[in-house]
Amino acid sequence: MPLAISLCLLVDNITAFLPTCLPLTSARMRIDGPLHFSTSSPDAESLIAAAQRSLGQNDTEAAFALLAQAHSKNANAPGLLRAFEDVLRTRIRLYDLAIDRLGLGSLLLERESFGEAAVEFQAALNGKLDDPSRERAASSLFRARAAICDWKDYYKDSAALVQTVRSSLASNQLPSVHPYEALMWPCLSIQEAGRIAAQYGARAIACVDKSLPLPQLSPRGTRLRNTGRIRIGYLSNDFTGKHPLGYLMQDVFRFHDSETFDVYIYSLMEYDDSAEIAKIRQAAIGGWRETRTGSAYDAAKIIRADDLDILVDLTIYNGPSLEAEVLAHRVAPVQISHMGFPASSGSPPLIDYIVCDDVTVPPWLQQFYSESFLYMPHSFFANSHRHLPTSNENKENIPSREANGLPENGFLFCGHHRSDKIDPGTFRSWLRALKRVPSSYLWIITAGEEMEYNLLTIAQQEFGLEPNRLIFCDKVPRNDHLRRLRLASLFLDTPAYNAHTTGCDSLVVGVPMVSLLRTAPAPEGEVETEKMPSRVGAGFLKTLCLDELIASSMVEYEDVMVKCATDHEWYHSITERLNQNRHTSPLFDTQRWVRNWEVGLFEVMKRRAHTTDIHVIEW
Ligand SMILES: *[C@@H]1O[C@H](CO)[C@@H](O)[C@H](O)[C@H]1NC(C)=O
Repeated sequence: MPLAISLCLLVDNITAFLPTCLPLTSARMRIDGPLHFSTSSPDAESLIAAAQRSLGQNDTEAAFALLAQAHSKNANAPGLLRAFEDVLRTRIRLYDLAIDRLGLGSLLLERESFGEAAVEFQAALNGKLDDPSRERAASSLFRARAAICDWKDYYKDSAALVQTVRSSLASNQLPSVHPYEALMWPCLSIQEAGRIAAQYGARAIACVDKSLPLPQLSPRGTRLRNTGRIRIGYLSNDFTGKHPLGYLMQDVFRFHDSETFDVYIYSLMEYDDSAEIAKIRQAAIGGWRETRTGSAYDAAKIIRADDLDILVDLTIYNGPSLEAEVLAHRVAPVQISHMGFPASSGSPPLIDYIVCDDVTVPPWLQQFYSESFLYMPHSFFANSHRHLPTSNENKENIPSREANGLPENGFLFCGHHRSDKIDPGTFRSWLRALKRVPSSYLWIITAGEEMEYNLLTIAQQEFGLEPNRLIFCDKVPRNDHLRRLRLASLFLDTPAYNAHTTGCDSLVVGVPMVSLLRTAPAPEGEVETEKMPSRVGAGFLKTLCLDELIASSMVEYEDVMVKCATDHEWYHSITERLNQNRHTSPLFDTQRWVRNWEVGLFEVMKRRAHTTDIHVIEW
């Protein structure tokens, strides 16, 4: 195999398990790994030193072989990634091959050097690449630029991305755009997202070795008929206090009715000692199982041995590829998808039902899902926000605006998002609203200097806004985040991929949110809201009876922003209603959510087949 190709594969190997998809901090956490995995092996270290000597002789082949060995000894050896980078840089100097630029870009991307990574991907695209590598470069370029809001070539990059995705779908190849990215990037339609997911599902199914034996499952419904009980399992790669899932679900499982439900939890994560996960473990009265080590087959054996009636998967493609492979082994008579991958799996053998509600999957969008639907009566979105210590604090605990570097007075628009959720059209509508409302400010989480520079440049050059109208802040620990969020006047939802966790954060502390939900196709170049993640925010607002804050076009979205900032009486009535409803609405009523969920699960158990939808009606 040519060196350049194997290098690229190795980079894949290093980075493949890194979700391209998760909040940047958890990606970083995963590359570093927990402490007991990164204990340095002297072996790996001496191999790295030897590689560096070979590199001094311009022998990149030998250096690479040594590093590959070091990688197999200890994938987290200190200096390993840096040494790979040196090999790639030397090769670029010696041979100037596009494939090496792609490899280097991938490493830089993992290190979150987005600007530098983008330069390499662009250089790779300008050179000679085969089709899969070209697609990988185009999608990586898009990702790198999105992370720093570098939108100079946004529409050109989008078109290139769409074109490469379409060509790999047409040739039945695995797209290098991850299913999660397909949900994020506005240029990819709900249909394309489904087809991308389907390819990842097919890959998982292809990994199953049917000749290997698995424990038998009881026929569907027998346990319920014989004992009146239901054995339910939850599987995820995100049972950690560092991921929103652990935070959102921490108080959900304990509300299961133990008279009927035996709760099993399967964690694909390494040991996590957070308070969130401690609560979840305690609620797993059937059993808590860590199934991370070993193959998908090994995990499937463990899960099958528990003879579940229902498995609920909370991550699918957002986990490592192992997670979808476990599902492909069919570990329960019914497999349901909920929360972590809010979209169709595209793969009927993996998932039977998807949990949704009337807003997130209305009838006309059902055609894009391969699953049957389990419709919840209010929001499908499970959360534990009501139980947060910070959500019922009184005003004395709110930090001052001054302490947060915010102006004493003025209307504060809040866009606390991952940078790549912001799209250029939405950002410009925020700026137009800023322009229309004197002494208003936009409060954003920084993703580094490049991002700040890019956004400030648009604000100044296109809108003539003073730089002080944009206020950047760092990410802070969760409780501090919830406290300072109360300083905001209005939270701005991102239309392409809504603020799910942070949307709940904002609403539960009493800060209203404006969201977009189109009732007609988007005009050319604007974001559609057909994919499930772009409908979740509107679902929250409907559940809270705040329909006035759901805009049906970008013009209206901007007008709602301006109205909140200028019509004080109206704004006051909105915040009053939110402050009442957040205590009573089903959105934050975890116990009520679980009750309805169990009604749905009973209905699932009564079915002989899973080809029709379930609508949970609340009594
Ligand atoms: C390695 O290659 C560079 C050219 O890129 C050259 O300047 C240098 O002398 C070479 N080193 C050795 C040890 O051959």
